[in-house]
Amino acid sequence: METATTATLTAQHVEAFRKIVGEQFVFVDEESLNNYAHDETENLHYLPEVVLKPRTAEEISAILKICNKEKIPVTPRGAGTGLSGGALPHLGGVLLSTERMNTILEIDERNLQVTTEPGVITEVLQNAVKEKKLFYPPDPSSRGSCFIGGNIAENSGGPKAVKYGVVKDYVLNLEVVLPTGEIIWTGSNVLKNSTGYNLTQLLVGSEGTLGVVTKIVLRLIPLPEYDVLMLVPFRNLEQAGEAVSAIFRAGFVPSAMELMEIDSLRIVSKFVGSAIEVTDDTAAHLIIEVDGNNMDVLMGEMEAIGNLLTQYDIGEIYFADDAQQKAELWKLRRRVAEAVKLIGYTIEEDTVVPRAELPALIRGVKDLGKKFDFEVVCYGHAGDGNLHIRIRKEGVPNSHGNEAMTIALRELFTIVKNLGGTISGEHGIGLIQKPYMDIVFREANFRLMREIKKAFDPNNILNPGKIFDLTT
Ligand code: LAC
Ligand code: ZN
Repeated sequence: METATTATLTAQHVEAFRKIVGEQFVFVDEESLNNYAHDETENLHYLPEVVLKPRTAEEISAILKICNKEKIPVTPRGAGTGLSGGALPHLGGVLLSTERMNTILEIDERNLQVTTEPGVITEVLQNAVKEKKLFYPPDPSSRGSCFIGGNIAENSGGPKAVKYGVVKDYVLNLEVVLPTGEIIWTGSNVLKNSTGYNLTQLLVGSEGTLGVVTKIVLRLIPLPEYDVLMLVPFRNLEQAGEAVSAIFRAGFVPSAMELMEIDSLRIVSKFVGSAIEVTDDTAAHLIIEVDGNNMDVLMGEMEAIGNLLTQYDIGEIYFADDAQQKAELWKLRRRVAEAVKLIGYTIEEDTVVPRAELPALIRGVKDLGKKFDFEVVCYGHAGDGNLHIRIRKEGVPNSHGNEAMTIALRELFTIVKNLGGTISGEHGIGLIQKPYMDIVFREANFRLMREIKKAFDPNNILNPGKIFDLTT
């Protein structure tokens, strides 16, 4: 349990916050507090005591100085689309929303970089650089609503990661407000950097526990001109998993390689009212995309991948011919999480194994479902070995805090660990994956992480109790 942060918020604290951010950006009314009490993880609800919406790093610095002195917990929050409870204010205190810090500050076309504030919606940033024929690839399913700051906090991925990498591969430099109120830049706006410890990469994926990111410098790449997309139905789920590594072994690097088990496709098709037909003998689909600047090359690649796949038990391959068909397919894939959550599947697990172990993971998951008698549905970034797994059991609305679910999930993560994988590929640990961290880490790992946390946040005020506990 966390013990370090015990201070209660007083009217004087709230008054001091009003002086810093302005009267109209301090919220203590019930409705506002409720709006920031949940995220997309599960049906969890933790009320903050006050919601603050600062506009600048200096305001955040002043807030953190007070909280550090008074030992008030602070939970930084982007758009609240997280899937591990990282932005849930489970200890009350201050909820620090970055939503007003929503300006793209500069697109540097000479150096292929963008400098942005954290509260910019990821897709807005992608579209802004696209106008200059530039590309920022990391594209979480929630890119239409999530913030770039949240993506930094979680080291998010998405479908394009398989070819282009994840958020960490694009972050060059960060302006960060430390829990003590000091403001630093972590690095430089350069493509190579061997100057001291890599604080930039330490901050990426630190889930708002080490500092509040207030400016972000990202590397961009030239925008590929074309992409081609196909949907391949498999009659056997494990074979779909096998085909994934076969495609890479044959020398192809698709720009997306997504798996959708048939139930996930059925559920989401109904949810979005899709016209795409789902045949009864199909067990799973692979969504395969290639991109580049030469259409003939891309068509050739798709044909070759199609030929390679004839060694498996597949149905008729569906090519998305135009932008509308592609958008339809991507809509189905991107909205699965929402659709399955709505019908009672609990937390979206974010397991990741070396790519070739995917069939073994799928097999393990299905066996677990039988053993513990729960329904299970799989989908995700097969090309990265990153499989999202949702489980559902009658009468169990949340996995968090449920004893039977915890036992089952421990078994799942043990399978993952034994396959050489780990708990989270792109969603983070946050609040609700914490109980499983001992499966993948030794005491020495925890010790290092605790000492790093203490070095940044001596009073344990910033997102305390997330990722790991200071005391065990
Ligand atoms: C997905 C997200 C939610 O892949 O991780 O759908
Ligand atoms: Zn995902």
